[in-house]
Amino acid sequence: MASVKVPDEGRTVSGFEAVRRFLAEVGIDYQRWQPSHPVAADAPAEEVLAAYGREIDRLKAEGGYVTADVIDVKPTTPGLEGMLAKFRCEHWHDEDEVRFILEGRGIFHIHPRDRAVLAIEVEPGDLLRVPRGTWHWFDLCADRRIRAIRLFQDASGWTPRYTESGADRGYQPVCFGTGDLPHPPAVS
Ligand SMILES: [Fe+2]
Repeated sequence: MASVKVPDEGRTVSGFEAVRRFLAEVGIDYQRWQPSHPVAADAPAEEVLAAYGREIDRLKAEGGYVTADVIDVKPTTPGLEGMLAKFRCEHWHDEDEVRFILEGRGIFHIHPRDRAVLAIEVEPGDLLRVPRGTWHWFDLCADRRIRAIRLFQDASGWTPRYTESGADRGYQPVCFGTGDLPHPPAVS
């Protein structure tokens, strides 16, 4: 289950209902999804999309999403560090960023205009809907693994628009879930 930290306030939020309420305050929709029938996390994309078809269709109807796909990232993914370098700089999009986590973990930092930055660590079963225009950045945990369903209102709108505020440099991309290893120290 997702957990949230507010580093500048030394605050941690955990437990589904507390996290859901807290994220709703900053406009982020948080849900937990169950498949309609058992499906392996590494099953082919079509199988995974079918198992979560009911939830996907509901969200499509609510949010105007037109397509869904499955993204797979592993430590061996070619160009992984270059890809992560793009995600870990603060940015926003012209459409919602919708992710349902199937496998692995990651950390979203959200930068509301009127309150402190929050870090959301997501894990399998978590659905996050980050509204268009929200300033955010993302990183993987040390195991460099994530498999997720993505929903798009218009796939061409999913271009990062960088704020260049520098806010992302003030927070460590260290996941706080159990069993994680800290990132190696940066070489300067
Ligand atoms: Fe993004």
